Amino acid sequence: MSTIIKNGTIITAGETYKADILVEDEKIKQISENIKPSPGDEVIDASGLEIYPGAIDAHTHLDMPCGNNITTADDFESGTIAAACGGTTAIIDFANPKRGQRLSDALEFWRKNSDGNCAVDYAFHITLVESNDRVAAEAAELVEKEGITSFKTFFAYAAMRISDGQFLEILDIARKHGALVMLHAENGDILEHSMKKLHFEGKKGPEFHETAHPAIAESEAVHRAAALCGYSKMPLYVVHLSSKEGLAEIRSARAAGLPVYAETCPQYLLLSNRLYHKNGFEAAKFVMSPPLRDAGDNDILWNAVRDGLIQVIATDHCSFLFKGQKDAGKNDFTKIPNGAPGIAERVNLIYSYGVKKGKISKNRFAAVMSTNPAKLFGLYPEKGVIAVGSDADFTVIDPDRKGVINIADLNYKTDYSAYEGFALDGMVSMTISRGRVIAKDNKFLGSKTHGKYMKRSKFDGSASII
Ligand code: URP
Ligand code: ZN
Ligand code: ZN
Repeated sequence: MSTIIKNGTIITAGETYKADILVEDEKIKQISENIKPSPGDEVIDASGLEIYPGAIDAHTHLDMPCGNNITTADDFESGTIAAACGGTTAIIDFANPKRGQRLSDALEFWRKNSDGNCAVDYAFHITLVESNDRVAAEAAELVEKEGITSFKTFFAYAAMRISDGQFLEILDIARKHGALVMLHAENGDILEHSMKKLHFEGKKGPEFHETAHPAIAESEAVHRAAALCGYSKMPLYVVHLSSKEGLAEIRSARAAGLPVYAETCPQYLLLSNRLYHKNGFEAAKFVMSPPLRDAGDNDILWNAVRDGLIQVIATDHCSFLFKGQKDAGKNDFTKIPNGAPGIAERVNLIYSYGVKKGKISKNRFAAVMSTNPAKLFGLYPEKGVIAVGSDADFTVIDPDRKGVINIADLNYKTDYSAYEGFALDGMVSMTISRGRVIAKDNKFLGSKTHGKYMKRSKFDGSASII
């Protein structure tokens, strides 16, 4: 049986046109005007709707243990159901080994929690918290056998941070085996120094989280990593870019011809540090790293998304219960688990506040939500594009539908949205994964076993990222 999606407007990173789409065996079989259904075909009427390549969230943390017996509130089941209802058709999460742990053991742990529990297709980046011969051999094996073609690194946090020398070695491993190196760009010494100082001064409320993570910590880390990548002649992907200062370093690295890519997240485009000074401990809902910045930074980052300096919008979805988890830091903000939800809200927010407010075009929306992450992370051309032979993954948006964000509608296990009360103008109508409608009008119609593990292609820098 085939499925035909009729009368919609197809919008990709490069084109906008009206056509019907014929889907067979999970793939796009034909795109043309007026495709005639055969008896028994399923017909989906997309009149008045916009059909985008399925949105990819390249940065999530589901079912992630993070010390002190705390695990993120959303697991793979709730997180990917929330993703599906919010218009996302694929996610890339992180397998995080401890120092000394075999990388394949870490992956096995994450696969045990994710396999059979994902409503959308899924993959993993591997975090490298050290560099030695064992890690080099195991990372090579993950690239070759498991299709894990991106290495996440940290310049901050005692349990994860690596030295500049280790970063250079990881760049060498990535070059040899075809992986993209990602960086959490914060200078760990600045964070530790500022936290010590705040503690000494008795400043322990959540309003001090931002002070503990100044923008200079981000810009210094971006600058240093770009320099090290320039020396190594290797590309770099900076995750969750938050500040105009960090962006300035991305701009100068790119002006110097370095292939430095940047991801930002809805929270850095739509929320500001004012939230740390409102309603007392409510501020803990927004304790994430890097922190929210000045409202002025929001527009500067939007312009960078529009102009191509930022190529990806992901979520860094890392959800904790406000009541029962975030309150671990009631008397000391450094104990508040860092992170916020966003996997369900991303598509609606970026469409409403990016496209509808005229900050980015519809084609740019397709690029940053789907095509660029697919190309950077080895999912293209199966994903990230609407073309014959590609997976039939679509995010279908009703540009006229309006709504308001309400935690009760988000399918989360977590108990709050950072965007509660945000008005939506244009909303996801349908999410189609490999030809199957897995969500319609925010109702989940899929199954928690539908999602497939995605082995990703190697990174060779040849794809044009816009
Ligand atoms: O606060 C955050 N972002 N938590 C998730 C882990 C990370 O650093 O991306
Ligand atoms: Zn991070
Ligand atoms: Zn993260």
